[in-house]
Amino acid sequence: MPWKFSFHRRRKSPTDPTVEGPIILPPVTNKRRFRKDVPYILPADSDEIDRLDFQHLIIRAALKGNYVAPIDTPARILDVGCGTGQWSFDMCTQFPQSQVIGIDLEPGTKTLPDNFMFAQGNIMNGLPFEDNSFDFVHQRFLLTALPLNIWPQTLNDLARVTVPGGWVELIEGSEDIKPLGPAMQRMLTFLGRFAKARGLNTTGNLPRFLDSMLAQAGFEQVTMKTFEVPLGPWGGQIGDMMSTNLYNALKGMGAAIPALLGVPATDIEEILSHLRDEWEQDHATYKYYIAYAQKPEEAARNE
Ligand SMILES: C[S@@+](CC[C@H](N)C(=O)[O-])C[C@H]1O[C@@H](n2cnc3c(N)ncnc32)[C@H](O)[C@@H]1O
Repeated sequence: MPWKFSFHRRRKSPTDPTVEGPIILPPVTNKRRFRKDVPYILPADSDEIDRLDFQHLIIRAALKGNYVAPIDTPARILDVGCGTGQWSFDMCTQFPQSQVIGIDLEPGTKTLPDNFMFAQGNIMNGLPFEDNSFDFVHQRFLLTALPLNIWPQTLNDLARVTVPGGWVELIEGSEDIKPLGPAMQRMLTFLGRFAKARGLNTTGNLPRFLDSMLAQAGFEQVTMKTFEVPLGPWGGQIGDMMSTNLYNALKGMGAAIPALLGVPATDIEEILSHLRDEWEQDHATYKYYIAYAQKPEEAARNE
């Protein structure tokens, strides 16, 4: 939503004779809004809302749908770290009889479908739902949010709230850009230091272990797939969109790096200025990992 400014001239009064001349406005800054209470390293602001909505379209086009797990008609669906809610809203349309619940730190800004419910909460404190509540649990792009040591307990929690026989699906993307040009390599080095400062996965290799982490959490029928999206117009419309998406994500995270790491902002700007050309020239691709798994029916008998 565009900012609206309204100018109010202070009224002259007998005790305040100082209002002649230009009105001094506060300085305009390009600062991004970051949360300070959690490790999350992407901004939480209107530019990021736009990016997440845009990214949703890319992933849906690449997957030719909203999920890959073999679900039927889930009565209850949970979207963990639901962001702007686009995935949840699509699921509300696709499954009008289902109840879809999204949980996130940030409340969304959209009009909510009737069969959607938003829960505000910090998932690092555990999911505020009863055991065996959901038939399908979806969690996407929380690599930038959850510290490495929190992942096992988060996946245990996903298992706890999933009904026996229900499915969980995770999607993450990370450092898997091929080929890796010099500008992107430099950006990843900064991002690794940024992630370390926040306790997050520093090499970005966690997505490769989604399947083993799901198995560790007790899930069965674990399946992992990868899909690559071109980075740049060389890959058609989706490539062009993906280049914009990744550039904006890196620009967002990059906005916090100078203050956090004591790096000149111009260094980050210089790297950013090369990225899109580098991807286009190299015909680079970005790899996503998608893993899905089923909670054993056995779990019901053991409880
Ligand atoms: C990269 S976005 C992904 C959003 C959504 N899953 C999607 O695919 O568009 C990560 C989301 O996780 C949320 N988040 C970060 N840390 C969180 C936490 N500790 N508890 C709950 N939500 C969190 C952020 O507010 C953000 O909406």
